[in-house]
Amino acid sequence: MQAETALTFDIKPNQTPLAEADRLKAFESLGFGTLFSDHMAVIRWSSDKGWHSPEVTARAPFPIDPASSVLHYAQEIFEGMKAYRSADGRVVLFRPEENARRFNESARRMAMPELPEAAFLDAVEKLVRIDAKWIPEGEGSLYLRPFMFASETFLGVRPSKEYIFCVIASPVGPYFKGGAKPVKIWVSEHYTRAARGGTGAAKCGGNYAASLIAQAEAAENGCDQVVFLDAAEQRWVEELGGMNVFFVMEDGSIVTPPLGGTILPGITRKSLISLARDEGITVHEKPYSFEEWQADVASGKLREAFACGTAAVVAAIGTVKFSGGEFQIGGGETGPVTTRLRQALVSIQRGQSNDKHGWIRAISGI
Ligand code: PLP
Ligand code: COI
Repeated sequence: MQAETALTFDIKPNQTPLAEADRLKAFESLGFGTLFSDHMAVIRWSSDKGWHSPEVTARAPFPIDPASSVLHYAQEIFEGMKAYRSADGRVVLFRPEENARRFNESARRMAMPELPEAAFLDAVEKLVRIDAKWIPEGEGSLYLRPFMFASETFLGVRPSKEYIFCVIASPVGPYFKGGAKPVKIWVSEHYTRAARGGTGAAKCGGNYAASLIAQAEAAENGCDQVVFLDAAEQRWVEELGGMNVFFVMEDGSIVTPPLGGTILPGITRKSLISLARDEGITVHEKPYSFEEWQADVASGKLREAFACGTAAVVAAIGTVKFSGGEFQIGGGETGPVTTRLRQALVSIQRGQSNDKHGWIRAISGI
């Protein structure tokens, strides 16, 4: 991958990187999002200069003025993507252009400046290059978190005139503590995530802030994740706090809620739809209600359900709990379609199988 951009990054290597022995020790027990690499990539924006001062530098705190607008009006967006070390030693990214495009869709919705896709990709590539030794071998990966926030010191309510774009990197293992075991999810009947005309399709921090109380309710009920129903009727299944959702029917077809502006257009979702169709599976992007879900489990029509996203990859849903009770799917085991689709996706992401859709971008020379 060679991203072309008019911005030339100033590369300032960290003078006190973590010692190799400490890094390798930390790699022995990787969770999600607790360990960070030595560097970060930063680009600044102001209304008079546009994008400027791109640099790759030691990861360090940003000084934030107490009146910085992000702290008051939450203009913040982010992305999530991963770099993998493939079995043949290459460093690869999965569909990074999709993240660059979605980042700008989020930026537009939040009245923030768009970052040229080439600059987004260049920042990611430069960070992965300098921190390549932070990519764990084997099952792990380097989770990349590009984000942008409003940094103007101003309390008036209007779009900020200054922003900071940054990419940080975190070596990660499984997102869920139970690893590849099926997850337990909680159906939120009090809280919704996004309404029509809102920010549901944008990857903005505010959506996650709004989801945390429901996620806490899920945890209190012994569940790993929350699933949201639509805001208008509290009836239609939308998505989980941080993942999209799929249902596998007894006739072999798959159902997933449609993109209608209230759910995140997941890149994993889009990729799995293609991979399923490659296998001749019929995929319906159509509304699916919680009543149907319960009835289909009771009748045996629903065979499997799974959640998917960059962080979680593909996770079978084993148990669904709600205020009125709970039910199991597929005997609480990961079903064959979920397993097959996960395998098809992971083997492409890790550069192990024929990438016939051309989704992999190798970063050369590392
Ligand atoms: N839905 C939400 C709310 C998410 O946070 C994520 C994760 O990024 C997804 C869906 C899945 O998106 P993707 O597959 O692009 O990671
Ligand atoms: C990701 O999968 O990259 C996400 O952003 C979801 C995360 C917030 C759990």
